[in-house]
Amino acid sequence: KYKGIIFDLDGVICHTDKYHYLAWKQLADKLGIYFDEKINNRLRGVSRMDSLEIILENYNGSLTATEKENYSEEKNNIYKRLLEDMSPSDLSKEVKDTLDQLKEDGLKLAIGSSSKNARYILEQLGLEGYFDAISDGNNIEKSKPDPEVFLKACEYLGLSPKECLVVEDAKSGLEAAIEGGMDQAAIGDAVYTQLATYDLATFSDLLKCIR
Ligand code: BG6
Ligand code: MG
Repeated sequence: KYKGIIFDLDGVICHTDKYHYLAWKQLADKLGIYFDEKINNRLRGVSRMDSLEIILENYNGSLTATEKENYSEEKNNIYKRLLEDMSPSDLSKEVKDTLDQLKEDGLKLAIGSSSKNARYILEQLGLEGYFDAISDGNNIEKSKPDPEVFLKACEYLGLSPKECLVVEDAKSGLEAAIEGGMDQAAIGDAVYTQLATYDLATFSDLLKCIR
């Protein structure tokens, strides 16, 4: 019934969440800001700048726009250093086999990620050139929960939102897909939102949604 599947990247295809956490934690510690895993969960799907704003909710003081630019860049440099250690062995067999199966079934596959590092991460995982389209933080004005990143992915695939299924681990991402008019499959913590068309216990459950 679907012609395309749009995958969120961080937390769906791979587990970069821990690297995002470590990088933000390092910056928060430096600024004397309280930061924990619970706050980190609110950063899922949210752009780098919007993430910084969430972290600064616990900051006593105010920063200029330039300081914010510099701190977000500092976080990204720490994050990118952590990504250097990623390799194809970080791509689970279940995820790869499921993607291959979906391709064999004739589905078009796209990435719909808020990250500006999406292409680098795909390269690290050995997935460069694998997806039919990539919509990421570099081609959008507004990040999730705005539907822009997914609408662009549909456009790049040449499909309508109704023909696509979005796979997400974040509430902001599910909201974006709902707003964009796509069906959604929730994985990980996103299942607790009870917002999605399907809840996946494990990645390969996706095959049940499309048959
Ligand atoms: C999303 C992550 O995929 O990308 C967020 O879930 C992150 O946590 C966002 O903030 C932006 O990532 P980047 O790589 O552009 O800093
Ligand atoms: Mg995610």
